[in-house]
Amino acid sequence: MPAITSSSPGKIILCGEHAVVYGAPAIALPVFQLNTKTTILAQPSAPEGKVRMIAPCIGLDSDLESLADNHPLKATTALVMQKMGVTRLQACEIRINTTIPIATGLGSSASVTVSLARALSAFLGNPIPDELVNQIAFEIEKLHHGTPSGIDNTVVTYQVPVYFVKGEPIEHLKIRHPFTLVIADSGAASLTAETVARVRERWLADKERYDTIFANIADLSREVKENLEKNDLNQHGELLSRNHELLQALGVSTPMLDDLVNCALQAGALGAKLSGGGGGGNIIALVHHTQADSISRALEQQGAVRTITTTLAPGRGA
Ligand code: MEV
Repeated sequence: MPAITSSSPGKIILCGEHAVVYGAPAIALPVFQLNTKTTILAQPSAPEGKVRMIAPCIGLDSDLESLADNHPLKATTALVMQKMGVTRLQACEIRINTTIPIATGLGSSASVTVSLARALSAFLGNPIPDELVNQIAFEIEKLHHGTPSGIDNTVVTYQVPVYFVKGEPIEHLKIRHPFTLVIADSGAASLTAETVARVRERWLADKERYDTIFANIADLSREVKENLEKNDLNQHGELLSRNHELLQALGVSTPMLDDLVNCALQAGALGAKLSGGGGGGNIIALVHHTQADSISRALEQQGAVRTITTTLAPGRGA
């Protein structure tokens, strides 16, 4: 049997993170320069059911059986088999390679789950539909992030820009006018589970204040969506920068993220904000295409450990 492979992109949140957990709309974009590839190779001479799981990104090389049941890779495997009504897995080696840095808000956990679920179902002879992949990935995101909104698994599963409202049908956001973003990694890892939990504590302690911030972010995401139709890049940039201020008010920015945002603006970006859970991870900056290189260089001089330039164009993702 030939090796089965499946690959999934990374993601960024254009606007609306955190508030989306509380029902506000948010916009997420797939990032195809980052990806996870899962390869499954049958091992006909190994005892039935022996599954070797190799994931260098987390330093893992183990028999699946020896992992805890709530280990996300074991839980994904079990859930795929359960949904497919399969009880035995032919002996195999599963290798997961990802170029997405872990715990930086770029969707590594969702990307790993989606690529594993797709590869596994194909290996079992019956590739599962996107809707089921998304459902499985949402369950596994709960193991990673506690109370996720579901936006990460959705954008990674469908691999298109999405305007996402928790509990509502998925809206594929059509990009009508191209725009360019520079993504810059602060180099500080941060677990989304922790920032989401911290925001929840603050919200519980002062619901009025935080509900107001969430409502402002919700308005802003609606404006970004409208703006994408109009193609007013200056306004788009202003909205992103305003979103960063609201994320600062939520307490999820850091001095390093603020420095990178300010650096991008000083270097000529039209707007900039942290993207994802915050507390570390990445910022995104909306830039004129011709200035992407100089702004990336400025961000690297400011301490970004890496930058990626990505252009959203009609008919494709980032
Ligand atoms: C993480 O990419 C986005 C957050 O809003 C968490 C979530 O929506 O699950 C911070």
